[in-house]
Amino acid sequence: MKEPGVFVSLEGIDGCGKSSLKEGLLAYLGQYQVISTREPGGTSISEKIRALLLDINNEAMLPRTEAMLYGAARCQLVDEIIRPALVDGKIVLADRYMDSTLAYQGYGRGLDLDFLQALNALCTGGVKPDLTLLLDISPEEGLRRRGKNIPDRLEKEGIDFQQKVRVGYLHMARQEPQRIKVLDAGRNLDEVLAAAINYIEPLLMLKQNVSRETMRSSL
Ligand code: TYD
Repeated sequence: MKEPGVFVSLEGIDGCGKSSLKEGLLAYLGQYQVISTREPGGTSISEKIRALLLDINNEAMLPRTEAMLYGAARCQLVDEIIRPALVDGKIVLADRYMDSTLAYQGYGRGLDLDFLQALNALCTGGVKPDLTLLLDISPEEGLRRRGKNIPDRLEKEGIDFQQKVRVGYLHMARQEPQRIKVLDAGRNLDEVLAAAINYIEPLLMLKQNVSRETMRSSL
């Protein structure tokens, strides 16, 4: 049976502006019970896996190891946080989810997409977003927006890698147009936020039973 809550995920290459959009959406959704997550991370075990994944000293990490670690972190997050929240009728706003694995480890690293689909199915137990907002931006603009922050292990891969990830995301959006909506993230935040809300609003109407209390928890 489909859970009563609403599940929205945010996706895009590094520097696409997910964090700013998330802030805006959390303010917009203030009257609802919202659980906000980020990947990799969001539970104590997943945060430990995150540290392994993003550590620039782990140069020897194989793409398959990487994929399974992202999967393991997600598995824990779904079971501990996401599924219970959806069962409770809450809104889950996820900063990255299963599509990141297909885009980065599949299109970016070149791992077999069927293997990654199977891994995603295993790790999510079939919990899938109702809506995925793909913030599309050029890798050059993404790099510029990231500014002078010290790059993590994935960000160190450079423009060509980000370009492959972007192409992958856009391909996935064409394959699942009902769920994955592409937003031009090169615009200013207000415009991107308005476009995002346009997609979220009908979903909230559709699922009238989402809890409307003001208590909000954020991870
Ligand atoms: P993070 O600092 O959270 O970056 P961002 O703000 O862009 O989300 O680092 C997460 C990195 O992990 C990011 O480069 C994307 C990558 N990633 C994968 O390669 N596969 C995955 O399944 C996930 C969830 C993230």
